[in-house]
Formats: sequence, C-alpha cells, structure tokens
Amino acid sequence: MHLAQFLVHGPTYHSLAMWRHPKTAASGYDWSRPALYQHIARVCERGLFDMVFFADLNYISDTYKGSLEPALRYASQAPEHDPVPLLSWMAAATKHIGVAATFSVSQHHPFYAARMWATLDHLTEGRAGWNVVTSINPNQDANFGVERPPADLRYDRAHEFIEVCRKLWNSWDEDAVVMDRDSPTFADATKVRRIEHEGRFFKSRGPLNVIRSPQNGPAILQAGTSPKGVDFAAQYADAIFAIQPRPQDAARYFAGIKGRMSELGRDPDECKILFGAQPIIGATDAEAREKQEFHNSLVPIEGGMAILSAHADFDLSKFSPDELMATRTEPQLQRLKTRFLKPSGESMTVREVAQRHGQSVGLPQFVGTPQSIADQMEAFLETAGGDGFMLSPIYCPGAIEEFVDLVVPELQCRGLVRTEYKGRTLRDVLRQDD
Ligand SMILES: Cc1cc2nc3c(=O)[nH]c(=O)nc-3n(C[C@H](O)[C@H](O)[C@H](O)COP(=O)(O)O)c2cc1C
Repeated sequence: MHLAQFLVHGPTYHSLAMWRHPKTAASGYDWSRPALYQHIARVCERGLFDMVFFADLNYISDTYKGSLEPALRYASQAPEHDPVPLLSWMAAATKHIGVAATFSVSQHHPFYAARMWATLDHLTEGRAGWNVVTSINPNQDANFGVERPPADLRYDRAHEFIEVCRKLWNSWDEDAVVMDRDSPTFADATKVRRIEHEGRFFKSRGPLNVIRSPQNGPAILQAGTSPKGVDFAAQYADAIFAIQPRPQDAARYFAGIKGRMSELGRDPDECKILFGAQPIIGATDAEAREKQEFHNSLVPIEGGMAILSAHADFDLSKFSPDELMATRTEPQLQRLKTRFLKPSGESMTVREVAQRHGQSVGLPQFVGTPQSIADQMEAFLETAGGDGFMLSPIYCPGAIEEFVDLVVPELQCRGLVRTEYKGRTLRDVLRQDD
C-alpha cells in the first residue's frame, strides 16, 4: 500500500469544516505560514509516506449563483496560495519523502514549466512531483486573460506540453557538465542540444538552461477521468490521484488505466493509482462515529454547492435540492457521475451530493478504531485493485499525526506498508513495493 498526504496551501482541503474545527483552531498553527507545512512533511516522513501532494487552483469561483460571495464566505477552496514555493521549504525539512504540487498546463509555456520543475527537482534532490492538470474552471483562464480551449483540445495541448518539457529535460546529456577548471571547460557543447520544436500549439528552440536533474524532470502525477484524461495518465504518469467513493467504480477506473498502459506498452506497475480517503479515527468505533457526526455537522451545504458547481463548471442553484443528480444529462455533470451515487448505486439528491462535497469532495470516510480503519482500507483495495491511498484530514494539524501514530503501525504489523525507505528519488519510492 502506497500512502500520500493530500494538502492545499489554504484553509480548506477536501473538508469545508477543517478551518472551523475546534482542533484546527486550538492548534496555534497558521495555514498561511510555512512552519505548518514543514511540520506536516516531517510527520508524513515519520509515517514513511511516498509523498505530500498539493492540489492547486488559480481562481476563486463564481460559478455558483454567479457570485464570489459563497466561495469567500465558506472558504470553498478559496483562498489558495501557490504551493510550488512550499516544496523547497518542505524538502529542506526532510530527507526521503516526495514533495509534489499541481501546476496547470493551460496557462503557461512549456519552457517555463520545464525550467521550474527541473530546478525544483535539483533543489529537492530528486524528490519533486508535478501533478499535471488541464484545470477545471473558466475563472482560471479568465485570470490569465486567455480563452479556454474546447475540452477535446485541452488534452491535445497537454500532450504537446509534456513532449516539449521532455525534449527540454533531455537537451542536456547526463555527462554534459565537465567542470574541468584547467582547460577550462564547464560543459561539453556536443552534449547540449537545441530542440527546435515547432508544433501545433508551441514553439521552443532550446536547449534548457538547467542541467539534467536527478529524475530528469520531476515525477509526473495526474488526475484525469475522461477517455482523453485516462490516455494522458496511462502514457506519462508515475502516479494518479483518483476520487471514487464506491470500490466497484474504483475497480473499473483502475482496470481502465492499467489496461490502457498495457496497450501503450507500459508496465502497469509503473503508475500507482492512489484513491482518495478521509480517515476519522477514534479510540472506539462509537467515539469515531461521534467525531464524524460532529465534523460533518460543521459543513455548510451552500459551501458544498459552491465547490461542486466550480468543479462541474455548472451552476447548481438552478436545481431543486431534491433533484436526483445521477439521472441528469448535462454534459458538464457526466465527468463526476460516480460521485453522485450512494453505496447501493441509487442516485443521491443535489442536497446530499453538496453535503458530501463539503465534507470530503466525494472521498469515502473511513471511520473507526485504527484496526477498523486498516480493515476498511484493506477491503477497499481488495475490491478496487488500487495501489494505495491519498489521505485527506478532517482537521489540521492533528488528524495526520493520528493516522501516522495509530494507523500506520497497524498497517505495518499487517505487512501492508513499508517499514523503511529504500529509493533515493520520488520515482524510486513510488516503485518501491516492499
Ligand atoms: C481527483 C482529481 C483531482 C484534481 N485536482 C486538480 C487540481 O488540484 N487542480 C486543477 O486545476 N485541476 C484538478 N483536477 C482536474 C483535472 O486535472 C482535469 O482537468 C479535469 O478532471 C478534466 O479532465 P477529465 O475530463 O479527464 O477528468 C483534478 C481532477 C481529479 C479527478
């Protein structure tokens, strides 16, 4: 089982209750200061996690009711500070754990991305991970003053983006830096090449002005669900973050990605699929259920509506709260369809989906004692396949520490997670299967 920690450089992650939760408030940590993130990185390294992973959005959404007010009032994935600068802070406080962040390809040029990620791969000594997203909401494109490409062009552009980055990372051979002070020769010019890329979307001459990094660019992470998104992930990703509340839908998703990898000639084990989960831990099952009820009661439904509307790029205020979500045919809602189902397969209402989106954005909540949570994790992966979990806390700090101190030892006793790091880079750690 591979474990990763989901984070946002902001007050709310998947839980809209998080910033209001008394345990978050009492901790004294401030989400906008780097000390919290260095602390989290150390805790997750103590738990031998593969990586810490930041989602990121470049907008405050007005999709719900055409207004910024709900997103700002409830901190519905707003504000979000840039997570990329934090990766260096977190790497400086740790030795082994991967540090990964989301960076959209929809508003930048590949030369900028290739240079930044190669530099981060150097600074983290090979522990950088880039979650490559095409972004989800037109508010983001508007902030950059660019047109949103139509859906089927977004991934074509993303493919070319990554290809240009790869060419740039390969523009320096491994042995290009000679550092002969006598001759003097810093770099061997025969081992550094222009790339002369002229494609459908981008031009770049190269070479990159960053020497080859430990992983030759960062590890690549992804989170797409459409056929084109799955294709993209199957071709490039070292790990995928997936949200599938029901294990049987997770199983279909898992088989789809691994099958596509085989068709593309990649070893399916080269890309780990991590399913999102929100652990709620108690000394007894009853205590854990009480914690869950209290947490979920802190979620404002309207805040959940705002997140859901932003993710779907569809204003849900148009629907009655009792409308069934899974039977709706609007194209924007189809991508999120598996998140509209109850465990039984029945459709949830708009109100129910908004409540769950506000609690966990659709991540299943695993509730119970450490032993019971380990059972639930095992059972989920038994049905789903899946290589591990992306964990999301209900308060922070506090919930991550509880998982590391109480659940990880239980998983270690069962031989389900590692007891030491073996690899040097994030890609090595993602491929370490013992
Ligand atoms: C689990 C998950 C997490 C995502 N995280 C982000 C994110 O942090 N930032 C972002 O801009 N887009 C994020 N996305 C959006 C995807 O990168 C992608 O743009 C979107 O899902 C549309 O592609 P698709 O139709 O293939 O799913 C996420 C998507 C999923 C499914």
